[in-house]
Amino acid sequence: MFIFATVKYSFNAFVVDKRLDEWIGADRFIAPEQRVSIENLQGPLLSSMEGAERTVTRNLRRQFEESGRIRKPHDDPFLESLEKEHEEATKVKNIQKIELGSFEIDCWYFSPYPDEYANFVDRLYICEWCLKYMSDRTLYHRHYASCPYTGPPGRLIYLHNQLAVFEMDGEQHKLYCQNLSLMAKLFLDHKALYYDVGPFMFYALCELDDRGCHLAGYFSKEKVSADDYNLACIMILPPHQRKGYGRFLIQLSYELTRREGKTGSPEKPLSDLGLVSYRSFWSHTLLAHLKEILAARRIPTVEELSRRTAFTPQDIRDTLQHLGLMRLYRGEQVLNINTKAIEQHWREYNGKRMTVMEADCLEWP
Ligand code: ACO
Ligand code: ZN
Repeated sequence: MFIFATVKYSFNAFVVDKRLDEWIGADRFIAPEQRVSIENLQGPLLSSMEGAERTVTRNLRRQFEESGRIRKPHDDPFLESLEKEHEEATKVKNIQKIELGSFEIDCWYFSPYPDEYANFVDRLYICEWCLKYMSDRTLYHRHYASCPYTGPPGRLIYLHNQLAVFEMDGEQHKLYCQNLSLMAKLFLDHKALYYDVGPFMFYALCELDDRGCHLAGYFSKEKVSADDYNLACIMILPPHQRKGYGRFLIQLSYELTRREGKTGSPEKPLSDLGLVSYRSFWSHTLLAHLKEILAARRIPTVEELSRRTAFTPQDIRDTLQHLGLMRLYRGEQVLNINTKAIEQHWREYNGKRMTVMEADCLEWP
C-alpha cells in the first residue's frame, strides 16, 4: 500500500483531487498474503506503474475538465490572479483532525473555518450536539458537559430502527447549518456553501441512543432550484461511511422529490465517491422497477421509469447505458431490454446488506 501511495503522491501534485488517494483496479490490489517485502518490489513495481499512473492522471484531468472543475483561464487577468490566490490558499488542508463526540477523525480537505480556529491547528474540537467548534480542549470539555442540546435542531421527519432524520431550514437554524457546512467541507473537495445557508434546507441523519441523536451525515437541498437539482451536497462522516447511509439519504432525497410530484438530480459535478454511490443507487432502483414492469408483462419506457422513481430521464438513460441496456436505433438511444442481462445485474445486488429508508416512516411534508 505504501508503494501505491508514494507513486500517487508524486503525480498528484498535478491532479485536482487533493485527498491524496485513488481508485485502483483489482489487478493492482495486492492481498496481504501476496505482499512481499517492499525492497524486493519497489524497483520493478514503480517503473511498471508509471505508465498506468500517467493514464489515470490524464483520464482524471479529462473528466475534471469535462465537468468544469478545471476552469478555463479568465480573460480578465485580475480575476485570474484572484482565483489563483484562492486556489493556492485552499490547496492545503488547514485542519488535520477533528474530535467529534467519541470520534477522532482525520480531515481530507481545506475548510474555511475562521483563522483563529484553523491556522493549521492540529485538532479542532466540535460539539457533536450543536456543532460549535473550539480549538481549546478544556473549553470544549466544559462546553460539552453543559451543552443544552442532544441532537440537531429542526423537525423530526423520520424515525425507524434507531435512525432519525431532522429537517432544518437554513434560514431558521442558520448557525447550526453554517457549522454543519463548515464541517462537511473538511470531507468535500469542491462544494462552496458555508455561510449563505438561507436558501437551503438541510436533512441530518442521526443514530439514536440513550444519550441523544448522534450526527452521521446530511444532505442539503436548494429551496428553489432553477436546474431541478434535488440535492446540493451530501456527506457521511468517515466513521459512518460504507454502512449504507449515503444510499439512505439519496433514497430520501428522491422520495421528497417524488412527493413533490417532480423529478430531480444531484448538483454537478459529483465527487468520485458521490458518483459510485449514485450509480449504485440508480442502477439498483431501475433494475427493481424493470423487473416489476416485465413481470407484469408490460413494456417499460423511460417516461414510466421516471414517473416511478423521480429520476430525470437523462439520469435514467445514462444509467441504463452504463448497464448496457440501451442501444442506438436510427440515430437515437432506445431501451434495449434484455431480461438475461437484467437478471445478471440484479444478482450483483443479491445478499448485499442495505440500509433502506422506509418510506412509510417518513412524515413529510
Ligand atoms: N469504495 C468503493 N465503493 C464505495 C465507497 C468506497 N470508498 N464508498 C461508497 N461506495 C459504494 C458502496 O459500495 C455502495 O455501493 P453498493 O451498494 O453497490 O455496494 C454505494 O457506494 C453506497 O454506499 P454507502 O455505504 O451508502 O455510501 P456512504 O454512506 O459511504 O456515503 C458518500 C457515500 C456520501 C459519497 C460518502 O462517501 C461521503 O460523504 N464522501 C465524502 C463527501 C462526498 O464526496 N460527497 C459527494 C459529493 S457530490 C454531491 O454532493 C452532489
Ligand atoms: Zn454544544
